[in-house]
Amino acid sequence: MTLDAAAMKKIVAEEAVNRYVKDGMNVGLGTGSTAYYAIKRIGELVAEGYNLTCVATSVQSEDLAKECGIKVVGVDDVDKLDVTIDGADEVDPKMQLIKGLGGALLREKIVAAATVNEIIVADDSKLVEKLGTKAPLPVEVLIFGHEHTKYALERQGCKAELRMKDGKPFVTDGGNYIYDCRFEGIDNPFFLESRIDVIPGVVENGLFLNTAFDVLICDRDGNVSSMNEKLSR
Ligand code: A5P
Repeated sequence: MTLDAAAMKKIVAEEAVNRYVKDGMNVGLGTGSTAYYAIKRIGELVAEGYNLTCVATSVQSEDLAKECGIKVVGVDDVDKLDVTIDGADEVDPKMQLIKGLGGALLREKIVAAATVNEIIVADDSKLVEKLGTKAPLPVEVLIFGHEHTKYALERQGCKAELRMKDGKPFVTDGGNYIYDCRFEGIDNPFFLESRIDVIPGVVENGLFLNTAFDVLICDRDGNVSSMNEKLSR
């Protein structure tokens, strides 16, 4: 049996919720087509009587959570989140990530920083040997002076493209633009992040380094594996 992408995302997202979400927890809700299934499963747990306090990483996820009967509060209403379940666009062998193709990287990074155990869920198409080889690196920037910010980004060795939606620049939940930065592979993500973060106008970048506690991956046969378990062996 070879599963399609949607089936793999559903299996891995539900497995993450079953494994990591316990009654009484504060839970971060990710954004994207894989996190979608995690939110649906969390809604089922709430319907079964779990008392969960949830924080969303985007307006889209907040709307979905509310439809599912989940109580959503702001990130500043909780001291910390016990667990967040979110997707990723690329995952390297050390669980370093690129995120943000869904446009929610800023809130995702703030929520991840407030989270004890950040759990990433993905199908195996997201696995790469080196970050930046399949996906572009999304960088959220202020609208003011964004073309100057673009040139500074390109000086880091990428081709930066303003993200568009319906013929207009895409605007994030935070009111900013996104540049999708195409590298031919990122040799040193920590160094690159330090270079990007000092560019005036950059609000946040999509490198999520040393952030994931675990990455659960679903293969085409529906088997879910934990990268944390593999790396700890
Ligand atoms: C949202 O901004 C992103 O970081 C998503 O988590 C990421 O793009 C993964 O999305 P999918 O699960 O839809 O591939």
